[in-house]
Amino acid sequence: MRCVIKGGLVAVSPEHILEVDIGVVNGVIYRISRNEDPQDYDQTIDAGHCWVLPGGIDAHVHLDWDFGDTVTTDDINTGTRAAAFGGTTTILNFIQPKPGESLRTLVDRWKDKGEMAWTNYGFHVIISQLYSLWMDELPLLPSMGIHSIKVFTAYPGKLMLSDADLFRIMRAASKSSILSMVHAENGPVIDVIAEESVLAGKIQPRYHGATRPSILEGEAVFRVGQIARLANAPAYMVHLSSLESVKALGYARQLGARLAAETCPQYLFLNDEVYQSDHFDVAQYVYTPPSRPHDDVRSLWDALRRGVIDIVSSDHCPFDFHGAKELGKMDFRLIPNGGPGIETRLPLMLTAVHKGQLTLGEAIAWTSTNASKQFGLFPKKGTLLPGSDADLVIVEQEPPLFTASARTLHQRIDYTPYEGWSLQGVPRDVMIGGQWVIQDHQLIASNSHGKFVG
Ligand code: URP
Ligand code: ZN
Ligand code: ZN
Repeated sequence: MRCVIKGGLVAVSPEHILEVDIGVVNGVIYRISRNEDPQDYDQTIDAGHCWVLPGGIDAHVHLDWDFGDTVTTDDINTGTRAAAFGGTTTILNFIQPKPGESLRTLVDRWKDKGEMAWTNYGFHVIISQLYSLWMDELPLLPSMGIHSIKVFTAYPGKLMLSDADLFRIMRAASKSSILSMVHAENGPVIDVIAEESVLAGKIQPRYHGATRPSILEGEAVFRVGQIARLANAPAYMVHLSSLESVKALGYARQLGARLAAETCPQYLFLNDEVYQSDHFDVAQYVYTPPSRPHDDVRSLWDALRRGVIDIVSSDHCPFDFHGAKELGKMDFRLIPNGGPGIETRLPLMLTAVHKGQLTLGEAIAWTSTNASKQFGLFPKKGTLLPGSDADLVIVEQEPPLFTASARTLHQRIDYTPYEGWSLQGVPRDVMIGGQWVIQDHQLIASNSHGKFVG
């Protein structure tokens, strides 16, 4: 298909936002010019009064993830469909081997599931123990198109590695040019504080926030930074939520640690006021780390503006309120940790652009371009240069207001933390690999056709 998108304000890159036309041929950006001739194309799309942006890249999602007692509600089909509605055209999903499963079997199993993806997709492999089969296979991951693993210093007894194993695994990953993504919190100390809370009768979900102090996030960020230095390994710190971790990140970098970092909308747009009630509704905000006080929120925005953190991912990890979150009615520790956000991530950021909290260029950099560079997808993704994949979104500059709600969003979950919020950045049209998936806010593609990005 040959398509020309005319009259839009086009973010060719975060630094180059220009009034140009874009020609798309065979799934690729073919040409950018001031005046493309519609006669050269089969289809002309009017993007007047619209932004045309590189499709969002969400580097942190948990689709169809078995988190012990329950599985996330969105699978790769429903989750990527919701992603597309929210302007995300590539997702990177965490996949975890079953006990004893080989990494090759895991990756093959997930590439099969990928057939159902509406967006492009790639994977990070969760390594939850120093298991000899997985260690033997680790060097083979790049040949399977996997370039990153995820390790945890939280969730003892489930996913947490000891410092010794963390060191061994990060060192081995680095030797094979694999990036270690790290969930950094001090899990054992958090468990003590949480246990004391429950023993004192403080069992409501609000205590999820109080029992995961940011000092234990900063401590782990710094510790992981030092272990990474010794392992001669780069590391990517996921979902940073606090000033403590921004400071720790800076100090570890000063000492020589090669650390990249992301934060998420729930740390930029929500704060610890969500934990002020004894009501069980607060379980909606049981994700890890928790949302933090205003000063932390400010420090994250500041870290983004200064380039200390440069990626905003969703950490979409949806568990229904009814049924799943309710597992923790009598003990907040049993509430599955995680919240939804794959569809609201980019619209929240673009709404903030309208409010003057950030520039359009910053929004594009933090939600797309920087992730494409970090995860080896640039310049195919994250930019609209000639030769790049035609993954793009068209957003009206003065869009109709959209009210976020579990009913209006497409994520397969019975709540959103942003219920009732007015969003201004919901894309009108979404093109993935040169094919329109969404037009006029409606799904128009008849089947999923996302591609593996390996
Ligand atoms: O609460 C969260 N973030 N759940 C997903 C798992 C993780 O820690 O990333
Ligand atoms: Zn995590
Ligand atoms: Zn996560």
